[in-house]
Amino acid sequence: MDNSRYEGSLKLHKSFSQQFLIGAAVNMKTLVTQRELLAYHFNSLTAENEMKFERLHPAEHQYTFEDADRIMNFAKVNGMQVRGHTLVWHNQTPAWVFENETGGLVDRDTLLERMKAHINTVVGRYKGQIYAWDVVNEAVSDSSEEQLRSSKWFDIVGEEFISKAFEYAHEADPEALLFYNDYNESVPEKREKIYRLVKSLKEKGVPIHGIGLQAHWNLSHPSLHDIRTAIERYASLGLKLHITEMDVSVFEFEDKRTDLISPTSEMMSLQEDRYSQLFQLFCEYSNVLTSVTFWGAADDYTWLDNFPVRGRKNWPLLFDKEQLPKGSYHKLVSR
Ligand code: GLA
Repeated sequence: MDNSRYEGSLKLHKSFSQQFLIGAAVNMKTLVTQRELLAYHFNSLTAENEMKFERLHPAEHQYTFEDADRIMNFAKVNGMQVRGHTLVWHNQTPAWVFENETGGLVDRDTLLERMKAHINTVVGRYKGQIYAWDVVNEAVSDSSEEQLRSSKWFDIVGEEFISKAFEYAHEADPEALLFYNDYNESVPEKREKIYRLVKSLKEKGVPIHGIGLQAHWNLSHPSLHDIRTAIERYASLGLKLHITEMDVSVFEFEDKRTDLISPTSEMMSLQEDRYSQLFQLFCEYSNVLTSVTFWGAADDYTWLDNFPVRGRKNWPLLFDKEQLPKGSYHKLVSR
């Protein structure tokens, strides 16, 4: 592979080789358009969508592994690790999973059998090649009254859908590290719910090995204090922590402006400081925090373009839209 654009620059993952893996989420397009950047600066990959239920298992007796296999192959050729994402989630799961022959809701036992078959086939296929899986994604509710969000999984199976998913995954690959993954993970109220959930799983002897902090953050939120508190609280459960979907949006949540065609210099300088503070914090906890994955690799492609504000570009990553290192990268590798 021609890595000449980056030659001479310190590899991002090398710069953190004593602390954690450095990953990026990829898709079929970026696996091609960002291949040199990925192979040079990152040593771990996550499929942005290609390992989700709807992509791998569109109909009961049909599995489609081509795209996921391409990601696995890219990782293998380039000596990278792979984090699997994600086995059980309320989104991007096809309708057939929850339906019976007459189109009504499937019964509990059948749904568990389907879950088991899915996990067994998917985790089994990549056994020994995917070292960590996000087993359950986003089961905890954001609203204050409830602990778990309402979803077809929860409504049909009850809260046991979570422990079952971990048990099935553990059976399928006893060596794989199994994670519970969620967003708003550093917001105190939700943090406590995630903590309670995972604590109860551990107490029941469920095979869970880590908590994934999605880390979809911005220039000021959540505060460093809240992030540190979340890391300490989760780590107190004796589990590994992964940062699984990191990006630093240049817009505050309330900011809906759509007039910018490039980031302001103030935004870029705040982002440099923010990244450097965040990684300093991660390094303090590198005995428990063993992987940091970005939700993308460079600003030419980010899920935050057009979301949550249509017609607005964002610049949340360490490499710019030409895939060249930003100030944030330079600050991190020269720390
Ligand atoms: C959540 C999911 C990811 C992805 C993002 C949005 O965080 O875990 O898989 O869908 O939303 O891109």
